Amino acid sequence: MKKQILITALMTSTLLAGCAGTSLLSNQGNSDAKAKHRPMTDNSKEAQLNIPYRSLDTSRELTLIGMGSCSDQNQPEPIWKTIKQANPQLFIMMGDNVYASKKEDKPIIDQYIRMNQIADYKELREAIPFLATWDDHDYGQNDGGFDNPEKEEARKVFLNYWSYLKFTMPKDQQGVYHSRMIGTKNRKVQIIMLDTRWDRTALTKNPAYNAETNTEQPPKIFLPSEDPKARVLSEEQWKWLDQELAKPANLRLIVSSIQLIPNDHYFEKWGNFPKERERFFNLLKKRKAKNTVILSGDRHLAAIAKEDVKGLGPIYEVTASSLNKPSRNLAPEIDKSYTTPSFLKPNFGTLLIDWSKRTLSAKIVDEENKTQLEQDIRF
Ligand SMILES: [Fe+2]
Repeated sequence: MKKQILITALMTSTLLAGCAGTSLLSNQGNSDAKAKHRPMTDNSKEAQLNIPYRSLDTSRELTLIGMGSCSDQNQPEPIWKTIKQANPQLFIMMGDNVYASKKEDKPIIDQYIRMNQIADYKELREAIPFLATWDDHDYGQNDGGFDNPEKEEARKVFLNYWSYLKFTMPKDQQGVYHSRMIGTKNRKVQIIMLDTRWDRTALTKNPAYNAETNTEQPPKIFLPSEDPKARVLSEEQWKWLDQELAKPANLRLIVSSIQLIPNDHYFEKWGNFPKERERFFNLLKKRKAKNTVILSGDRHLAAIAKEDVKGLGPIYEVTASSLNKPSRNLAPEIDKSYTTPSFLKPNFGTLLIDWSKRTLSAKIVDEENKTQLEQDIRF
């Protein structure tokens, strides 16, 4: 059978509302061996990158949001079926949305094309809107920061794939940080998507760390940087964040790909940049942003953390990771900020908002749709 290309102009009022001029291209029943082995041109890859997606209606009242991170496009992802059953109104991808950091993963675009082949995920993209930021693996370099030589390529593909960003971010902006304000009067949710990669300075590696050492103690991979110039965010992103926090909102969700509150472990975290971590809490205090919940991924474990910020009150962080790439650790992680030990198996998060009680019910849900961690947060 000849390669069939189905071109459907899906310019309905809801689908693809954010990407005018885009058509749906999908390959069907390709059994032509020659066509199969013909190298893909850049144009045919771009066509496969674009899948139909539901755009965000910012006037809609939000009551149920889904969130997740760390999705390995080369492995089955049965959790998308469970996420569909949970039926969130919006899903937030918090980074490592595809794994594209190894040499054999390049070009990065190929990994997004693979992700598009996961049928349940693709269906959900059509059914509900998604927001996305990146972490190191979709940024193209493990633990990568400002000096990642592939950052421009990663950004280009990221903007082409999460194409709503082309319409919501200033053209001259570096990185991928952005925000959305969603909801009705007195029921507005502000979602702030940070970029913790583009400008982040080098991590301080522990000179004594040896990956081969078989130790009972957690390995000290990174140490807190004492360099006064060490940063997670650029000055431009800090300024932008300050302006965002000045906007009136009833509930604020700040998405940071790496963990912000938990500080006992020795992997990537804001705690490797103690001054930046302090600056973040000081900014929340300055803007009296008590109604903030932090969302994070990256860790291949799920956890709920709490920090009593002096002069502000308790701030919670919900970490949902991974969608299908669980930790090899056998014992749950304990951190002084965790409300309970972490959960290690594949998971996603749900945030159920009760507007009349001004309460957010945060849950970590497993592949079988069982709630594993739960925390009610007043806002
Ligand atoms: Fe990561």
